[in-house]
Amino acid sequence: MKIRDLIISQIKKKGKIDVSEFIDLCQFSNKGYYINNDPIGQNNDFITSPEISQMFGEIIGMFFINFWKKNIKGDFNLIELGPGTGTLIEDIIRTAKLSKDFLNSVNIFLIEKNDALIKKQKERLSNYNVKKINWFKDFEIRNDKPSIVYSNEFFDCFSVRHFFKKNKWYEKFINYNYSQKIFQFESEEINNSKLLQSLAKYNHVEIAEISNSRKNYYEKVCKFIKKNKGIFLTIDYGYKVLPKNFSLQTIFRHKKTHLFENLGNQDISAHVDFDELIKVANENNLKIESFSNQKDFLLGCGLNDRKKKLQKNKDEIVSKKIELDYERLTSKSQMGDIFKVLITSCL
Ligand SMILES: C[S@@+](CC[C@H](N)C(=O)[O-])C[C@H]1O[C@@H](n2cnc3c(N)ncnc32)[C@H](O)[C@@H]1O
Repeated sequence: MKIRDLIISQIKKKGKIDVSEFIDLCQFSNKGYYINNDPIGQNNDFITSPEISQMFGEIIGMFFINFWKKNIKGDFNLIELGPGTGTLIEDIIRTAKLSKDFLNSVNIFLIEKNDALIKKQKERLSNYNVKKINWFKDFEIRNDKPSIVYSNEFFDCFSVRHFFKKNKWYEKFINYNYSQKIFQFESEEINNSKLLQSLAKYNHVEIAEISNSRKNYYEKVCKFIKKNKGIFLTIDYGYKVLPKNFSLQTIFRHKKTHLFENLGNQDISAHVDFDELIKVANENNLKIESFSNQKDFLLGCGLNDRKKKLQKNKDEIVSKKIELDYERLTSKSQMGDIFKVLITSCL
């Protein structure tokens, strides 16, 4: 069934659906965006930090090697959530060639829902002589080994519900206008007292963008780290201070679009509420190792030195390109500030 028909059938069944149900049908149903498409890259819908420069994955790789040498030293899981085209894990493995012990001890798990991307990841990693790499569609790892879990632009894929306050709190829903054959928003006042209680923290900004599925997923990984021991690094678009506007955005071929366009063929994402993730980590007794923006994290881990090494003996054009990539990853007007890095651990 086409996504449009699937959404209409759900609306028929329920009367209307909330924004997160609409997003989940577009992203994760059989014909959904994240199930079938290859969205990443210059010729597709968007580009991510690992795709911009090898420096990004190399810095993260070095960070993991140092963490492993200090805290694990033995057999362990390296788990990436949503590896996309596999560039980040490839850069990490290539960097890890500097530490044979690390590579001999690693069990790699890639958690990926998208079959087209799994195929790409398999092709890409087939050149590397590492122990077995495991693919899972969900986070279902059963062993007890200490683990390094990480993600880049993963938690912004989770769907959100939209609430707004006009004296009273309302939730936005989506309905179908049968005569005009279009989807349209409508809102409903909230009377559920538990929900009203959870909205109280948003009273001063008068909007709330809430992702229960993101929170549940993050909590699942926190519980896993608590049980297995290890570290959990999350990099994403996001904020700690609540925004005054909804952050939900839809992108098709690098251009902003409307939620109701290109159903199942466009990227839908929402900024991550890091304050909430930190709360979840605290509730699960994980240590907050650090929270910073991408710029401070990368520079703190030696990005500047890595850039200079890469530029050494390169001609002007290559050297300039490395400089521009560095700028893109770190400058406040590009990815340096809007992207945040949260590191939690249990040792
Ligand atoms: C925005 S892309 C980022 C890809 C990669 N991490 C990068 O930085 O280039 C999101 C990735 O997460 C995957 N993904 C999204 N939601 C997922 C879920 N719930 N479970 C597993 N994979 C998911 C997508 O298929 C895609 O590989």
